Amino acid sequence: MQEMIDRLRSEALAAIHAADGEPALEAVRVAVLGRKGSLTGLLRGLKDLEGDAKRDAGAALNALKDELTAALDARLLAFSGARPVTAHAYDLTLPGRAPAPLGSRHPLLTVLEGICDIFYGMGFSRDDGPEVELDYYNFTALNFPDDHPARDIQDTFYFNEKVLLRTQTSPVQVRMMEQREPPLACIFPGRVYRNENADASHSSEFFQIEGLVVDRAVSMADLKDTVDTFVRNFFGAEAPTRFRPHYFPFTEPSVEVDMQCVACGGSGCGVCKQTGWLEIMGAGMVHPNVFRAAGYPDDRYTGFAFGMGIDRIAMLKYGISDIRLLYENDLRFLNQFRGVQ
Ligand code: DAH
Repeated sequence: MQEMIDRLRSEALAAIHAADGEPALEAVRVAVLGRKGSLTGLLRGLKDLEGDAKRDAGAALNALKDELTAALDARLLAFSGARPVTAHAYDLTLPGRAPAPLGSRHPLLTVLEGICDIFYGMGFSRDDGPEVELDYYNFTALNFPDDHPARDIQDTFYFNEKVLLRTQTSPVQVRMMEQREPPLACIFPGRVYRNENADASHSSEFFQIEGLVVDRAVSMADLKDTVDTFVRNFFGAEAPTRFRPHYFPFTEPSVEVDMQCVACGGSGCGVCKQTGWLEIMGAGMVHPNVFRAAGYPDDRYTGFAFGMGIDRIAMLKYGISDIRLLYENDLRFLNQFRGVQ
């Protein structure tokens, strides 16, 4: 009898192990433990035994039945991918973990939202454009001549001749004007990319916010007033601003806007490189060629546009000396902005 039990045990375990799926396993279960199964047959045979032999064989067969049932269950669990929950899986006596520390807003986002809020207050709405942009919107529609150096492969990440990573938020101006008729007062914040070597003041990715106002009689004076309102609200000071003539292909006339240095009040310091002024944005009156590209009728509208670097504004506001700190996600840096609004 013992011999038969041993043989049944090794054959059944081998069959359970060899079963390659739930149907095969079920077949093994039926063949061993089913009504006509081999183990069931042996159990039935017990009635022909007597005394010690009956007792010993009964105990051995019942132990084998338990063993095979457990092996079948374990194999079934393995198929379902679940893991058995054992008494050791949880230690209910372990003390709970300390509450997860709260993260903080990234200073760039705080500044971005802060700038947007000021423009919402002046009646601007907000829109977005794609970071993967067409050369057409990034350059051509913005009146960049074909041989303009900014199109140079040095500055722009190109995917192919027609597709690139936008180098500025200005292309959203054209996308917006294609969709909507004036009056328009919009801001377009977002990430831009340039193929530059990183140093304390350059990064190959950074943020800009673009502004566009178009209507029938928008003037340079409106631009100046908008800029002054922004500076007063954002830096919380009556810092004078000034326009310096400049060149951008998509505005005419074009200016660079400076504000009086917030660090020294204009007397000259390290922050403003002793000039007393800080450059904060490029701006100008929308070039007629840009209106034409957007499909606006000639001479009907005028408008102003501006674009500023959010990183630079954040660095000025918080006294950050290296732009790379804004992209490294070093918690020692970021944690300093906990609770900063
Ligand atoms: N897109 C320009 C840049 O990245 C910034 C700029 C200048 C935007 C003048 C404007 C503008 O809208 O009118 O350098």
